[in-house]
Amino acid sequence: MKIIDLRSDTVTQPTPAMREAMCKAEVGDDVFGEDPTVNELEALAAEKVGKEAALFVASGTMGNLVSILTHCRRGDEVIMGDKAHTFLFEVGAAAAFAGVQVHILPNEPNGMLNPDLVLAAIRSENIHFPPTRLVCLENTHNRCGGCALSPAQMDSICTPVRERGIPVHLDGARVFNASVSLGVDLKELTRNVDSVMFCLSKGLSAPVGSIVAGNKEFISGARKNRKMVGGGMRQAGVIAAAGIVALNEMVDRLAEDHTNARLLAEGLKEIDGLDVDLNTVQSDIVIFSLVTERMTPSDVVTGLANQGVKVGFIGNRQFRAVTHYGIEEEDILLALDAFRQVVEGKA
Ligand SMILES: Cc1ncc(COP(=O)(O)O)c(C=O)c1O
Repeated sequence: MKIIDLRSDTVTQPTPAMREAMCKAEVGDDVFGEDPTVNELEALAAEKVGKEAALFVASGTMGNLVSILTHCRRGDEVIMGDKAHTFLFEVGAAAAFAGVQVHILPNEPNGMLNPDLVLAAIRSENIHFPPTRLVCLENTHNRCGGCALSPAQMDSICTPVRERGIPVHLDGARVFNASVSLGVDLKELTRNVDSVMFCLSKGLSAPVGSIVAGNKEFISGARKNRKMVGGGMRQAGVIAAAGIVALNEMVDRLAEDHTNARLLAEGLKEIDGLDVDLNTVQSDIVIFSLVTERMTPSDVVTGLANQGVKVGFIGNRQFRAVTHYGIEEEDILLALDAFRQVVEGKA
């Protein structure tokens, strides 16, 4: 039985071109700055996001942590959404390792933060207050169903925040999905942020790694913080080689994932017992709800798994399905058959 794994875009296998590039990669000691393949990836990544410099890190979580460590000191306050990946799913790393206090504001269903609330949350000078040192945004927004924030939406927060001397960090784990979904150049989404993290290991299908980008001074501090958290990876060119293929060959095809996600969402919406807010389906993520009492969420997950379809239960009778490299249109049609069988009891 073919397994159609829709739990995440992190389950992607490296492409044949990536495996070949990994085999042939020239390597050196990256902690000494001597790995030519890592250096090539960092230069290419910086160019793609329109920043002076970039740093290869082991994961998105490490990239966000290193960015917060570089922008902040212990006791500083960082503003972010209450559905931000950094707040919900990074094991409290910002508090545990950077010693910052996270100030959460409600995320709107489309992943936005209300600019007025962000500005109002910035601390004034007062002996009792921690200083606000950073605002974090996320684009696309994972827990908000992969919604993409437009350049205008980003600017409505970034411009006034940065005018107040506070930098903005973008958790752009899937910012390439945002740029493809909106049909805008990636740099439009990154020009008004001070630092950006993006993942090579999600829709771009590389086996390992993320990038942090910013100005030279920021990246030099981030490089030191990466070393501090144990992220100096030595002959990392072996994995950076796949990242170069990811950036050169895997961006445009994200549009296929978005088309497949739309097909899946529209099919799920038709199923008696499921509901999807089609407005939130803007990239590769589909969040849908079980709206019948006929079965439990675990019945759905198990029933689908028995048919070879894997989705993630995310609580509150909601599930997440993510399309990616390796999932074709015919897989979506097969998955929808499985859903109909499990939820409606029909073939
Ligand atoms: C928005 C967002 N940020 C950060 C991460 C963390 O990435 P990693 O799993 O590589 O640590 C993820 C992972 O799913 C994510 O969705």
